[in-house]
Amino acid sequence: MPDRDGVISPPFLPYGRQEIGDADIKAVVETLVSGWLTTGPRVAEFEQAFAKSCGAKEAVAVNSGTAALHAAMRAIGVRTGDEVIVPAMTFAASANAAIYEGASPVFADVEEETLLVDVASVKRRISPRTRAIVAVDYAGQPADYDALRQIARSRGIRLIADACHAPGATFDGRKTGTLADISCFSFHPVKHMTTCEGGMCTTDDSEMAAHMRRFRNHGINSDHRSREAAGQHAYDMAELGYNYRLPDVQCALGLAQLSRLPGWVAARQKIARFYDRAFARLPQIAPLYNHPNRENAYHLYVVRLAPSIDRDKVFAALRAEGIGANVHYAPVYMHSYYQQRGYQAGLCPVAERVSKQILTLPMFPSMTEEDVNRVVDALTRATA
Ligand SMILES: Cc1ncc(COP(=O)(O)O)c(C=O)c1O
Repeated sequence: MPDRDGVISPPFLPYGRQEIGDADIKAVVETLVSGWLTTGPRVAEFEQAFAKSCGAKEAVAVNSGTAALHAAMRAIGVRTGDEVIVPAMTFAASANAAIYEGASPVFADVEEETLLVDVASVKRRISPRTRAIVAVDYAGQPADYDALRQIARSRGIRLIADACHAPGATFDGRKTGTLADISCFSFHPVKHMTTCEGGMCTTDDSEMAAHMRRFRNHGINSDHRSREAAGQHAYDMAELGYNYRLPDVQCALGLAQLSRLPGWVAARQKIARFYDRAFARLPQIAPLYNHPNRENAYHLYVVRLAPSIDRDKVFAALRAEGIGANVHYAPVYMHSYYQQRGYQAGLCPVAERVSKQILTLPMFPSMTEEDVNRVVDALTRATA
């Protein structure tokens, strides 16, 4: 729309955006009128399709990525007094989920060039109280699962994958969802596929899957639909769970979206290649390094700016041009809640330093090469 002087500004480019099409709308409307609004047939259909898409035995649908992480913590037996190792560079939910179960997050530092968890730092953080490690597939690149699985196995601790950034990514050809004891996904609208809010846990362990299905339903051992089908009214609440159920209507949306996930991942990879090519000419802008054995699903396209550049000024300059740059993340323990719990600056020096130099650039499947050039031109000007 023209402004008061008749100048037409290009549209705002957000850092991430959902793709909703006719097939999604049709699936949602059909389910809305099917009679099933909450747990119905679409839940199991979505779970089975998601499990198949990554090659996991089981998938358990929940109503957010955060709920997925919480369910995973419970299923692997995280308890009061335990420690859970979490990378410093992640969304707070990766660490919060440990606190929900009474455990303490212990923050590990990250590798400067990938922002994935630094395996040496993980090793240094292990103590007799360590119950689990959370690996985060930062920006869409899988963490070093070979090394992390080996550490976990040799110490008798569990590995949870926070794969919220990485559906469709691979490590040595193996898909995310199969790389840890339990893997967690988010279907928030900025992610690769959406159910509005929603999440999924995948695992090859059917006992853990059954546990997570109870946990998402108050800790009750059967759901309303299965009791109706069996003509029974009795149920038992065997442990304290939550209402983390993902409704049928949202699972219908998830099913419709899932079928387009491979195409969206490929579109993101193509956009990343455009960016990579442009930044190869600009020494002040360094894309994150991608390990050759890992296929990146590119939830985010993150660059590191040269230390002499004022990142916040560049951020403001991009925003002034309608480019929705963002920052992922400040180290989790720098949030005031964590500071009040006693975590202090200095814990993870690499994360603290690099978090001040990074910028997330727009990345979503319907972005055009022209959009990418607009971002590159604006960033080139702002960092010149
Ligand atoms: C790494 C990571 N973990 C967990 C979550 C939580 O997912 P949700 O927003 O679906 O609860 C997010 C979402 O932003 C995330 O990026």
